[in-house]
Amino acid sequence: MTKLEVINLSVEVDGKRILNNVNLTVESGEVVAIMGPNGSGKTTLFLTIAGHPRYNVVGGDIRLDGESIVKLYPEERVQKGILLALQNPTPPVPEVRLSTLITAMINKKAGKRITDPPPPQVIAEMTKLTTELGLKPEHLSRGGVHAGFSGGESKRAEMLQLLMYKPRWPCLTNPTLDLTWTV
Ligand SMILES: Nc1ncnc2c1ncn2[C@@H]1O[C@H](COP(=O)(O)OP(=O)(O)OP(=O)(O)O)[C@@H](O)[C@H]1O
Ligand SMILES: [Mg+2]
Repeated sequence: MTKLEVINLSVEVDGKRILNNVNLTVESGEVVAIMGPNGSGKTTLFLTIAGHPRYNVVGGDIRLDGESIVKLYPEERVQKGILLALQNPTPPVPEVRLSTLITAMINKKAGKRITDPPPPQVIAEMTKLTTELGLKPEHLSRGGVHAGFSGGESKRAEMLQLLMYKPRWPCLTNPTLDLTWTV
């Protein structure tokens, strides 16, 4: 059993206190929805767990399987299995295809060179999930990640990245839970 613990967490952003003594425990396999009014600090909590440098932990701790992660760099937290899908889709990344980005992420996680070609089963899984998420194969090979994607297509593309990376602790901020409708 693995566990993510947020213990009496207090956080400041640009000198302003946003979170006060937040407590949360999530065990592996659990799905937890954090709900609250706009501006109550949901995104702040997730960005702090992910290690955004502007979010200063001024009290408390965040532990993964008992080990404090508050001093780790964001990339070290990703390596430990935390991955964040942002509230607003990331801006387009020109010249990098979605399939190239996903392959690089998987290679990095596996300790391979990021330019190594993906094995056939990875290509098959990526193609299958692309269709299941309501995207088209051409989204994988367009000239840039999210380039020319609609807002909903960008969110779906982020879901694809998350599902392919298979983090132990996926954090989704305002996900489109029902992918059949978007606004
Ligand atoms: N850099 C900053 N300077 C000042 N205030 C900030 C800063 N960043 C965030 N805040 C404030 O922190 C509060 C929490 O913001 P946060 O984005 O975590 O809310 P949220 O719960 O995710 O809201 P929403 O439901 O609208 O997504 C807001 O009042 C916001 O204005
Ligand atoms: Mg938010």
